[in-house]
Amino acid sequence: MRNLPESLRTLQGKVAIVTGASRGIGRAIARELSEYGASVAINYSSSSTAAEKIVAEITQAGGNAIAVSADVSKVEQVEALVNKVMEKFNRIDILVNNAGITRDTLLLRMKPEDWQAVIDTNLTGVFLCTRAASKIMLKQRWGRIINISSVAGQMGNPGQANYSAAKAGVIGFTKTVAKELASRGITVNAVAPGFIATDMTSSLNAEDILKYIPLGRYGQPEEVAGMVRFLVADPAAAYITGQVFNVDGGMVMA
Ligand SMILES: NC(=O)c1ccc[n+]([C@@H]2O[C@H](COP(=O)([O-])OP(=O)(O)OC[C@H]3O[C@@H](n4cnc5c(N)ncnc54)[C@H](OP(=O)(O)O)[C@@H]3O)[C@@H](O)[C@H]2O)c1
Repeated sequence: MRNLPESLRTLQGKVAIVTGASRGIGRAIARELSEYGASVAINYSSSSTAAEKIVAEITQAGGNAIAVSADVSKVEQVEALVNKVMEKFNRIDILVNNAGITRDTLLLRMKPEDWQAVIDTNLTGVFLCTRAASKIMLKQRWGRIINISSVAGQMGNPGQANYSAAKAGVIGFTKTVAKELASRGITVNAVAPGFIATDMTSSLNAEDILKYIPLGRYGQPEEVAGMVRFLVADPAAAYITGQVFNVDGGMVMA
């Protein structure tokens, strides 16, 4: 964890929920927001040991964090997550909808369960968490919501009909909710990573993939976290809402 100077710690006094923060991109986002001064709720679905490890790391560095187990696709668990964060920190300023799964297979082999599991976690989860957290943000008249989409939702990817449908859905959801919440000081943006080195991409064949990435390498979780931090922590981002930001080594050029 970096020890940033006081002048950069623009998130002091703010509270962030990062879903799926036990590993990968979510973990990097949680660390980054904590370094910028936020108190962070580390959500996870099953990796309790990993989540508690990040909490310990943040706490040792002088920050505030709690680990909260909740399956983002389940309405009662999402309500309990938000209630727990309110009990502990008494406000919610930032929500990063990052939790996601893949169940990759070609269309004709895709079972309804593969379709539904991915839609439930990657799209319904974003809806449920945004609905629950935005109620608090509306009262506070300030909020920052970031939804993690994917290049797959913009350009498609064979074997990911379920995942690309969910991630495209996240982009449409982002734009509508940005319009609904704008008048209350809440911005809503999407970040679309390309191939980032995490557990999710560890079994892919890099040689097949690298030829589609102009910068010629996988991204690091910290590179996605930097974009999220800009959007939630930098005063210069206050006039940005309803947008999609690619962090993809140049894969998608609109
Ligand atoms: N890696 C990439 O190349 C890439 C590219 C584009 C977009 N993305 C998106 O970026 C996000 C993070 O991906 P990643 O690569 O960091 O994935 P990852 O390493 O597989 O980590 C996924 C995280 O999501 C959590 N999670 C899964 N299902 C959940 C549920 N139902 N409720 C709550 N948490 C749940 C996991 O918690 P447990 O540990 O408890 O299971 C874990 O913390 C995802 O939305 C993914 O689609 C990733």
